[in-house]
Amino acid sequence: MTRAPVSFPPGFLWGVATGAHQTEGGNVASDWWYRETMPDSPVAEPCGDAVDSYHRWPEDLDLAAGAGFTDFRFGIEWSRVEPADGRISLAAVAHYRRVVEGAVERGLRPLVTLHHFTRPLWFAAAGGWLSQGATGRFLRYVDALAPVLEAGVERVETINEPNIVAMFPNLEGPLSDGLPVPDEATTEAMIAVHRASVDRLRANHPGLRVGWGVSVQDYRAEPGAEAALEAYAEPRDQVFLRASEGDDFVGVQTYTGGLLGADGSPVVNPDAERTQTGWEYTPDALGGAVRRVARVAGDVPIIVTENGVATADDARRVAYTTGALESLRAAMDDGADVRGYFHWSLLDNWEWGHWGPTFGLVWVDRATFARTPKPSLAWLGSLAPSGVPA
Ligand code: BGC
Repeated sequence: MTRAPVSFPPGFLWGVATGAHQTEGGNVASDWWYRETMPDSPVAEPCGDAVDSYHRWPEDLDLAAGAGFTDFRFGIEWSRVEPADGRISLAAVAHYRRVVEGAVERGLRPLVTLHHFTRPLWFAAAGGWLSQGATGRFLRYVDALAPVLEAGVERVETINEPNIVAMFPNLEGPLSDGLPVPDEATTEAMIAVHRASVDRLRANHPGLRVGWGVSVQDYRAEPGAEAALEAYAEPRDQVFLRASEGDDFVGVQTYTGGLLGADGSPVVNPDAERTQTGWEYTPDALGGAVRRVARVAGDVPIIVTENGVATADDARRVAYTTGALESLRAAMDDGADVRGYFHWSLLDNWEWGHWGPTFGLVWVDRATFARTPKPSLAWLGSLAPSGVPA
């Protein structure tokens, strides 16, 4: 039996999320491109042309708007805007301005991400986030984006998953072994860059709503493991959630959940259904994660800026998303201040080293780049809330 879809209040943001490097293709001036193409690269499958969204963005916007979505999250690629230290590409800036204008023309409210894992190669080579002057360099990029932001951007996510960025230095095994502890110096650097960016964006663009998007999974404690859970979660996401204080929103990006034992390590459930990325299939993780964010981040409004599932079975995607939305609605009914939901992702795209995991509402033929909607696209778009906020 099909369950009645949950509903969300008028004005609730209803969007799809994409990322720059995973969709655009040909980001040749980025550190990831370098890693993917160097001899003996540790990256199994390179991104290459990705799904050519750098050229096919009008089709992508048509698909999102045509399905009924009202909001669109996409990324701006710093290495395109500033391919060499201090050299701003006006053509790249004009490109992203056209994407914003294209979204607005189609009735989509743009939410743009300024940093989503990839950095210009020159910035990485100069020491990256821990180098002296990193914040100043990022602010110079932020300033260069004024023509893009002024074209109708409503919301900015400064940094995508700063907590995962801070884990990169300590990431060795698969994520199913549990998330490594974020590097402390990188954590501090991320928070400093974010706070400075929020101030700069607010000063230069009054009315723009600014936040960042934290990876928040639904960790739950086995009986007796409550203190261990707190110690696990604090450096991995809570410190970042608290650093959202004063922001216009905090983005929550949730995919899975699981139990933590009293020794502080994840309890592996051998019987759990797993997704293509090896994560436990836990639709209601979204509600659990949002409840924890509401407790930790205080008064900051929440936007779910990513949630989705890697599966080849589109019916499973609908089932997962139904469960996720029900758990989200229940958290809201219990008081969580949630303003919107963005599904990851519009398209099957490059999943950081692999093409296997398919998160998309739309299938992409990688030889022709032809896009074919899956049934889940129309289904999720049709749930878009209408009307204006009360
Ligand atoms: C990232 C996306 C990624 C998704 C699924 C998030 O961590 O922001 O880039 O594709 O999770 O793994």
